[in-house]
Amino acid sequence: MICNLAVIKGDGIGPEVVTEAMKVLDKVGEKFGHTFNYEQILMGGCSIDATGEPLTDEAVAIAKSKDAVLLGSIGGNTQTSPWYKLPPEKRPEAGLLKIRKELELFANLRPAYLYPELKEACPLKESVAAQGFDMMIMRELTGGLYFGDRYTKEIDGVVTAVDTLTYTEKEIRRIAIKGFDIAMKRRKKVTLVDKANVLDSSRLWRKIVAEVAADYPEVEFETMLVDNAAMQLVKNPSQFDVMLTENMFGDILSDEASMITGSIGMLPSASLNETKFGMYEPSGGSAPDIAGKNIANPIATILSAAMMLRYTFDLDKEADAIETAVKKVLEEGYRTIDIAKPGEAQVKCDEMGSLIADRI
Ligand code: NAD
Ligand code: IPM
Ligand code: MN
Repeated sequence: MICNLAVIKGDGIGPEVVTEAMKVLDKVGEKFGHTFNYEQILMGGCSIDATGEPLTDEAVAIAKSKDAVLLGSIGGNTQTSPWYKLPPEKRPEAGLLKIRKELELFANLRPAYLYPELKEACPLKESVAAQGFDMMIMRELTGGLYFGDRYTKEIDGVVTAVDTLTYTEKEIRRIAIKGFDIAMKRRKKVTLVDKANVLDSSRLWRKIVAEVAADYPEVEFETMLVDNAAMQLVKNPSQFDVMLTENMFGDILSDEASMITGSIGMLPSASLNETKFGMYEPSGGSAPDIAGKNIANPIATILSAAMMLRYTFDLDKEADAIETAVKKVLEEGYRTIDIAKPGEAQVKCDEMGSLIADRI
């Protein structure tokens, strides 16, 4: 198969981890007879520096012309980087939001799985980690607070900042259907996480998702308030199968879920629309604190490439091969700094990529 990809290396550790994912994809290509063609485009801080814009329309057009996008991460230190002196719509994150919206990537899948080999990297108490967990966070990605009206102005002499959280029935229904479809292929349970005791938008989510649930009688459906969900994630994460939620709750809970897998460097993600097109990226950020040191964990990006093979190209065998190779390196005891025990030997980012590629 010929797979045409737009590649966005981005900022910080982005170029380091994406290079390793490409190394692994090339090995898959060699072993299974596929060709991966890459066209690099700029997004984020590097694009601001080169063009003055966090994402140009030309770059969007290139992304749209491909089968999928492989992304590292964008952004810098939000306190110290000069990019954050620019108006909000010119900052790195505006590029990410633009590509999500332009490509209508409304369904963000963030699978959080505790590899048995990483039980000791999991910060939960032993008795909880021993049970393991395997959940899919289904985060709505093109609505809510991220895309509502936003402004700061003086109202009656008082400086006032406004962000609005908007959802339409249609936006809720399409992600709910994706969530239940995915639950049917997993353990058949959906937990809708919301704040229906306060927010109108959450009350609409409950109504629409319950309607969708009625079409999936085999799937157990429950609702949970987001504050409780944050607590349950550390108390008993094995209770979750598909966790369905709006944009910002999903952003926050997926970082929490990543940490209980051992590290944010382990959590992949797929952002999908109604077609086979997808954008695949680690759930974490550009990690400016460790960028340029070759110590980032590339596994989240490598597992995101596996998700791409599965969801965009239907190459299940090849995706399995990547996931098995990741499991093998963990079994063999290789660890990057973020998942190593104190005093344990560590491998660098590029070594981890090579170790995984060698096991394909
Ligand atoms: P971050 O996820 O970049 O980093 C949080 C912590 O996790 C840091 O200590 C970092 O070193 C560590 N970490 C992250 N990825 C790692 C990896 N692969 N291996 C080892 N350790 C890893 O979050 P932040 O510091 O809040 O944000 C930094 C920048 O990244 C900001 O500009 C933010 O907007 C941006 N960001 C971008 C994306 C994206 O591109 N999708 C996602 C999140 C944050
Ligand atoms: C993520 C990131 C982004 C988000 C930021 C960088 C805009 O945190 O992909 O999780 O909040 O969606
Ligand atoms: Mn995030």
